[in-house]
Amino acid sequence: MSTAPFPEGFVWGVSTSAYQIEGATTEDGRGPSIWDAFTGGRDGDPACDHYRRHPEDVRLMKDLGLSAYRFSVSWPRVLPEGRGRLNGKGLDFYDRLVDELLAAGIAPYATLYHWDLPQALEELGGWTSRDTARHFADYAGAVHDRLGDRVDTWFTLNEPWVAAFVGHASGVHAPGRTSPADAFVAAHHMLLAHGLALAELRARGATRAGIVLNLSPVLTPAQLADFSARPAEEDAEAVARIDALHNRQFLEPVLRGRYPDDLLPLVARAAGLDHIHDGDLDVIGNPIDLLGVNYYTPIAVQAQPGAPAQPDFPGSEGVLFCSVPTAVTAMGWPIVPSGLSLVLRRLAADYPGTELMITENGADFEDVVTADGIHDVDRIGFVEEHLRALRASLDEGVPVRGYLLWSLLDCVEWADGYRRKFGIVHVDFDTQQRRLKDSALWYRDVVRRGGLGG
Ligand code: NOJ
Repeated sequence: MSTAPFPEGFVWGVSTSAYQIEGATTEDGRGPSIWDAFTGGRDGDPACDHYRRHPEDVRLMKDLGLSAYRFSVSWPRVLPEGRGRLNGKGLDFYDRLVDELLAAGIAPYATLYHWDLPQALEELGGWTSRDTARHFADYAGAVHDRLGDRVDTWFTLNEPWVAAFVGHASGVHAPGRTSPADAFVAAHHMLLAHGLALAELRARGATRAGIVLNLSPVLTPAQLADFSARPAEEDAEAVARIDALHNRQFLEPVLRGRYPDDLLPLVARAAGLDHIHDGDLDVIGNPIDLLGVNYYTPIAVQAQPGAPAQPDFPGSEGVLFCSVPTAVTAMGWPIVPSGLSLVLRRLAADYPGTELMITENGADFEDVVTADGIHDVDRIGFVEEHLRALRASLDEGVPVRGYLLWSLLDCVEWADGYRRKFGIVHVDFDTQQRRLKDSALWYRDVVRRGGLGG
């Protein structure tokens, strides 16, 4: 695969999210989020204590030579009840962070929703209530009013599939509901929230705004071994159904203003269609400037009559989710770098002209911590191989503007807590000491060189 330099102006950065790093969950007027309620307040504090240590974290990013930093704004820090009263101190925090980033020459990319819904809104129905979409748009406007003079890249939602289905169908994530109907309704309201927020950002002059989706190629095991393999008819149906649920449920409304024909019967069966109002898809389908792609691993499926639906995938009856015969990360996620190329090729073919940014890619591995350093050769290998796949996609002409590695810091991995390590910077959670891993030093060289080198 290609090792040619990346294009001039290619953006190199990292991503984080508020709940996973900030801590200070009760400080300066922040309200509780669904994740504080879901975990009994156990994990979100101290996290990486980034609320206090942000100057040090910005310095680290500057030393790594990064050109962009994607962070998320905590809705309950800005609006403790989710609506109504603005918390000035919460906004002040992001104000300081943005100023520090700009002073360090790092472009701030703001994500407005990375899963930390204000608990007060959950108590009013959360994402199953249509009003939540309107409240989100008001919140988006308020954040732009404060930061819009300095932040020029905006993402509305992060991974709405996870927030809707892992949060409301399997209940593994907050708010921990286990209702397929709630999951489909939540997904639609999140999409509506995206569209309404986009309009608020546009009304305030935003010219670079989009959404972040977690996209995975869906393949049969045979296709994973040979991408040109043609699946049997029943397997092709299984592949298409899971692709509709996981990928096209979000891609099609956002990029074409429509729901896929093969998705609607699944939605109708679980939730009816009354929650989809006339005009919603026009709002959702207003053009974005940039699509954020989070890529970690593919999904392998085949038909298996009688198989029960997978909890995260209501509507997946008769589909077997297969293991993938490759190396896996410590999370158990199969490592398939060429899956990234497949996702990108598909986006370029189906939604031509859409500017793309890799907004997350990275891996959880056990690090070897010694006195002389933190050795994470597996993480380096993972990122390197994905960058080669990305480089190959650029050669094919796919318009990818940047790569944001997940993540800067070891942090709170949602329901898995502190045991997962995705950072290129090690955090000792007793002392909050940060230490660069080998992967951070390696990434610094990639950024300096503007590519992988020979
Ligand atoms: C995607 C999510 O956006 C992020 O919050 C999470 O930590 C990573 N995946 C790894 O699971």
